[in-house]
Amino acid sequence: MRKPFVAGNWKMNTDSHSSVNLAKAIVSASVEIAGESVAVAVCPPFVYLQAVTTAISTSSIAVGAQDLYYEQKGAFTGEISASMLKDIGCAYCLCGHSERRHVIGEQDELINKKVTAAISGGLLPILCVGELLEERQANKTTEVVTRQIKNGLAGLSVEKVSAVTLAYEPVWAIGTGLTATPQQAQEVHALIRGLLAEMYDSHLAEEIRILYGGSVKPGNAAELMGQRDIDGLLVGGASLNADDFVAIIQAAV
Ligand code: PGA
Repeated sequence: MRKPFVAGNWKMNTDSHSSVNLAKAIVSASVEIAGESVAVAVCPPFVYLQAVTTAISTSSIAVGAQDLYYEQKGAFTGEISASMLKDIGCAYCLCGHSERRHVIGEQDELINKKVTAAISGGLLPILCVGELLEERQANKTTEVVTRQIKNGLAGLSVEKVSAVTLAYEPVWAIGTGLTATPQQAQEVHALIRGLLAEMYDSHLAEEIRILYGGSVKPGNAAELMGQRDIDGLLVGGASLNADDFVAIIQAAV
């Protein structure tokens, strides 16, 4: 059985006070629901990871980073390694988020190195995939998502891939207020699960969690979670408001 998973991606938001306050507000409001029935993580900016980790250390809520670099250490100015993230208590790490792909310019090959390094460093990567609006309009969704998954997971054994969570986030739905309909999302999630069965085996495909992301709000979370192959939600904007994020967690129970 796949345990539902809700992750909040704070992106480049909050400050030293509001990051800790937000984390504490989420913990106190979700104390009754998180833990047993739904896994929850928050992904603050790098500089607030440690403060947030400390602030929520007694809760079952996990902390994730928004990115990492694939080398272990050395002359890589400005970069952060998996072991550094692990050292301060991070459990998860986003890899290949659409803003890193399309704003920063990350390609599949780099993302694959990051996923691989995250697993080797003891982190649980959340590999994000999703098509641009023009790709959807040109009927290229299947092609793009298949390529991103095959390249993103290249070279990883079935044991290693079992550490991965996937997140389908259509780029046109991120931060735009446009959400894929539950049917559109389910279609791509089913495609991804089928692809994993082909690439690995049906056991792995049934066990791996596939999150949906893109303008998830308290009002659409339950319907999205009602789809067979949607196992959780990756939440951007709405995760910056404790009440909204907790309502989304509640919808995932
Ligand atoms: P959004 O972002 O919920 O603000 O659309 C989702 C994401 O980028 O993970």
